[in-house]
Amino acid sequence: MGERQSPIGVIGVGYVGLVSAACFAHLGHSVVCLDVDEERVAALSAGVIPIYEPGLEKLLEDNRERLRFTTSYGDLLSACRVLFVAVDTPPSPSGDADLSRVRQVVGEVAERGGDRILVMKSTVPVGTGGHVLHQLRARGADGVHYVSNPEFLREGAAIQDFLEPDRVVIGATDPEDGDRIEALYRGVDAPVVRTSVPTAEMIKYASNAFLATKISFINEIANVCEGVGADVRTVAEGMGLDHRIGPHFLQAGIGYGGSCFPKDVQALKQLAGNSGYHFQLLNAVIEVNQLQKRRVVAKLKQRLGSLHELRVGLLGLTFKPNTDDLREAASIVLAARLQGEGATVGAYDPMVPAGAHPQFPGVTICGSPEEALRDADAAILVTEWPEFQRLDWAACRELMARPLLVDGRNALDGEALAAAGFEYEGLGTADGPVGGDLESVSSGRPDGAASSAGGRR
Ligand code: UGA
Repeated sequence: MGERQSPIGVIGVGYVGLVSAACFAHLGHSVVCLDVDEERVAALSAGVIPIYEPGLEKLLEDNRERLRFTTSYGDLLSACRVLFVAVDTPPSPSGDADLSRVRQVVGEVAERGGDRILVMKSTVPVGTGGHVLHQLRARGADGVHYVSNPEFLREGAAIQDFLEPDRVVIGATDPEDGDRIEALYRGVDAPVVRTSVPTAEMIKYASNAFLATKISFINEIANVCEGVGADVRTVAEGMGLDHRIGPHFLQAGIGYGGSCFPKDVQALKQLAGNSGYHFQLLNAVIEVNQLQKRRVVAKLKQRLGSLHELRVGLLGLTFKPNTDDLREAASIVLAARLQGEGATVGAYDPMVPAGAHPQFPGVTICGSPEEALRDADAAILVTEWPEFQRLDWAACRELMARPLLVDGRNALDGEALAAAGFEYEGLGTADGPVGGDLESVSSGRPDGAASSAGGRR
């Protein structure tokens, strides 16, 4: 087929599609990208990048002559035989992944038929490959083959994750199809896992669910640490040195968010349920993650009593640093919960413009961290943006009505902050009142039982 010469098609220029297109272009391929969003395609053709991802703008600019954007399937399919599908698969109300966009793509490709390989990059439920092939065959598109090639990109590190991955997973029915797709990754130095389509689909879900499990596990350990005076950061370090455990994804905090983990864990649970299996562990992973955010509110109540008419400053809103993504961010739940307790909420995030924001009704988004902290009775570090580590905390302390700081990511130097006069509390860091009654939170009573006010220091 000579893939190095014939352009690669990428359908869907959201986050995954755009990063994949830029990286394939960087590897020397010509790439034609299709999206149904005309504005987005026009913007990209004019060099305007709709998302924030470190290094992406430059990579697209450097490889401009190998990249082209279109809204026309006719245009795409006359140029490309290998088509990577990178459209959204958001959660549906039932918890299943919504595959309507995938079906739309399959319909368009089936209509035009030809000799092609449809390569699924989007995260789709196990079994989707089989359904797609059925749809293609039913419509007479016998020459269209199917390969599963899940992505493992982290927002904020996506380019590195594409070009230096831990592995490339290729699930194919026909080994020749797998060979063709593997050849496109020439230049990427990584183990390649060649397998069947359903196994490749499951590798993606199982990986994300396992990582989410690791996070909920360490969060529960953190909660126990608080009751017994241990420090979860050192516990994680000590655990992580065991090579069977590894040091990654053991950062305790207010839980996981983003467009992937919450959706994929839910979808895997649903997938198991649909096939008659009750995936008990994932229920706990999801519940722990939900309660973890509320725990932070319980910590404030434990120190302050009622939050009614108090002002709380949130530092960070995105679901993690180095992204502008607010999907399933802990900040959304926290802001609503705090306002539910009667507090006034101000917030700052380097990626969220000052003013009002539809996802944060009632919250004042400030133009600086200082503004968010001014006159605040408490602050919560929600996202560990590096700039918060560099803040002049002594000056911030003077701005606040009460220097109470809950570090939802254990990202700050608690000792230094305590020395600067803060009432500092991390999660599972033994800074809080040992044995404090946060039990109601972990037992599922979301309003928390704690009411005693007053700091430890
Ligand atoms: C995640 C996976 O890491 C990628 O491999 C995968 O490709 C991607 O989902 C996807 O399915 O598309 P991403 O959602 O960008 O990537 O973010 P992560 O860096 O994995 O972080 C997810 C969440 O977990 C964040 O809210 C982060 O703050 C939280 N987290 C992460 C912790 O609370 N503790 C940790 O130790 C690590």
